[in-house]
Amino acid sequence: MNLTEAGKHVQELTALIRQHNHSYYVLSTPTISDYEFDQLLEELINLEKEFPELASPDSPSHRVGGEITKDFKPVKHKFPMLSLNNTYSVEEVKEWEERIHKLIGKNAEYVCELKYDGVAIGLTYRNGILMQAVTRGDGVQGDEVTANVRTIHSVPLRLNGAGFPDEFEIRGEIILPRKSFENLNKIKVDEGDEPFANPRNAASGSLKLQDSKEVAKRRLDCYLYSLPGNIPGSETHYESLMTAKSWGFNISGYIARCKTIGDIFEFIDNCNTARHEFPFDIDGIVIKVNSLVQQQELGNTSKSPRWAIAYKFKAERVATKLLSIDYQVGRTGAVTPVANLTPVLLAGTVVKRATLHNADIIANLDVRIGDIVFVEKGGEIIPKIVSVDLDHRNPSFIRVEFVNKCPECGTSLTRKEGEIAWYCPNEVNCPPQIKGKLEHFISRKAMNIDSLGEGKIEMLFDLNLVHSVADLYDLTYDQLLGLEKVFAQTDEKKERKISFREKTVANILNGIESSKSVGFDRVLFSLGIRYVGETVAKRLTVHFNSIDNLLIAGYKDLIEAEEVGEKIAQSILDFFRNPKNIEIIHRLRSKGIQFEMKEAQQVLKSDKLKGMTFVITGTFDQFSRDGIKKVIEENGGKNAGSISSKTTFVLAGENMGPEKRKKAESLGVPIISIDNLLQMLI
Ligand code: IVH
Repeated sequence: MNLTEAGKHVQELTALIRQHNHSYYVLSTPTISDYEFDQLLEELINLEKEFPELASPDSPSHRVGGEITKDFKPVKHKFPMLSLNNTYSVEEVKEWEERIHKLIGKNAEYVCELKYDGVAIGLTYRNGILMQAVTRGDGVQGDEVTANVRTIHSVPLRLNGAGFPDEFEIRGEIILPRKSFENLNKIKVDEGDEPFANPRNAASGSLKLQDSKEVAKRRLDCYLYSLPGNIPGSETHYESLMTAKSWGFNISGYIARCKTIGDIFEFIDNCNTARHEFPFDIDGIVIKVNSLVQQQELGNTSKSPRWAIAYKFKAERVATKLLSIDYQVGRTGAVTPVANLTPVLLAGTVVKRATLHNADIIANLDVRIGDIVFVEKGGEIIPKIVSVDLDHRNPSFIRVEFVNKCPECGTSLTRKEGEIAWYCPNEVNCPPQIKGKLEHFISRKAMNIDSLGEGKIEMLFDLNLVHSVADLYDLTYDQLLGLEKVFAQTDEKKERKISFREKTVANILNGIESSKSVGFDRVLFSLGIRYVGETVAKRLTVHFNSIDNLLIAGYKDLIEAEEVGEKIAQSILDFFRNPKNIEIIHRLRSKGIQFEMKEAQQVLKSDKLKGMTFVITGTFDQFSRDGIKKVIEENGGKNAGSISSKTTFVLAGENMGPEKRKKAESLGVPIISIDNLLQMLI
């Protein structure tokens, strides 16, 4: 076959596959068998391999994945991705409707839609072809996940029909259907990994996988619900969704135009009954003003549009008996009480255990062993005790006294002033704390050693091979090969066996080796210093540059760094005062872990704000403060907390305080608006 013939065949195959794909995934009416479909796709993939010049960004071959994304590029949203005002109260929905009705008069019309419980996504199409998919991020800026989104069959790679703008964005939700979620968790448990807590977390984790082939296997789905830039020819939200549907987008059939509050509640009630039959989770209903002009008139608050409200379904609740309480020790040493209950059916699953959170909650509930308690399950897998049925209280029931010794290592528990949790202070020798630290260290946002998971860490710890994060770097091939462990069945997990064969061992060691190139900010986060989360670790890195500078920093130096207050400073000092931690740092450093910031690590998008220091004050309608700070830093600028002669600009939102204004004026520091800042970045 020559190039021309191949080109023609690629076109024919592409058109056929696209048509069958739409019938199957969007219309749910398959037109050929799975086998025939796979044959067509394989033929196309082979042709594209033979003639790479024929592969296009909208080729259906992207559905099977294969593209690797190392770093998800940050992308600023053209329109901020706002959130919705939520309510669980029927009264509040009525009040919202009355307010809107008063404001826009008797022609008020609403659209009711499902509130999907997944991950928000913005898709940009240019000339009808999917060019970019970006997550919500902080609302101002998200991450580009295009290769991964291309594997989702219900997302059109090329639009049907005509009339779409040259470039436009459509937004919606990526979800993991319940069946796919169950399959995925089964595989995870079988492989010795921790299952995802809920489909939302699984969807979000899947979107951030580096290998799009893996994403393709997850069977994500996507429903669209908004066109932020509006499209020509549509006067209402409903019309624009229907137009989008005609272009091939997946728009739910559960959508209704409502004139009255009665219509709205009829839709809510119908969906509340039908939702258990849906193949995916929803957590409520979204009600939107239909007219786009009216939407514009109503506008947005800083966080959410005034023209929409989300009515969330209340979590389901049942009564059962409290049999006993166990105490679990976490990574930080915090002790969490967990209730053992008479098994009871709740939202489709049998519940035997529920969290009681902390000692204060136990005291406030005044819960006693033998009580009948009410248990609730929201979006999470772990149910919680929300109240006690005092009508069934018997005076002989025993009051719960919170433990005063660590149930794992026997050390006396401590509680710092102003804190809620009781802690086991035996940081370096208490088993769950060691395991928790190791799990945190290897996690995705930390050192990202994904060849190790919770099960493997537990195994290495139980077999006495790893006691601290530094021990990971001493592991050898011979030590690991052939190791095996059978994990007994518990309430939450089935019996499972992990064995280390050649490929597993090679993967583990490669993962550990690659972690040596992880930047200092993430290394600092990985150490698990209490209160030093991702953001604080980044701020400390920018301020101190290296572990050596940080080690000699005193309290006063520490609180100079942005976002570091009294509590964080004290926690850092406590951490470095412990000789065991210093020893771990020395060992890690000797193995080649990054303990200073590299120039290249400050991935700058531009240096347009180089040498400028900004002080942000007041509130902003469309942006979060953190989002603005991030944008400033990414373009080479600095943020400061208070106005001084070193400040280049004061960036003022609404309601800037008079004191700040006076100070800026007296020092001659120009006060600018967010629009001025955006201008500087063009
Ligand atoms: S409209 C400005 N419609 O809920 C609001 N959002 O809490 C534009 N969501 O981040 C969003 N289903 O991810 C809209 N039918 C629906 C939705 C929906 C789920 C999510 C969305 C948003 C969050 C807001």
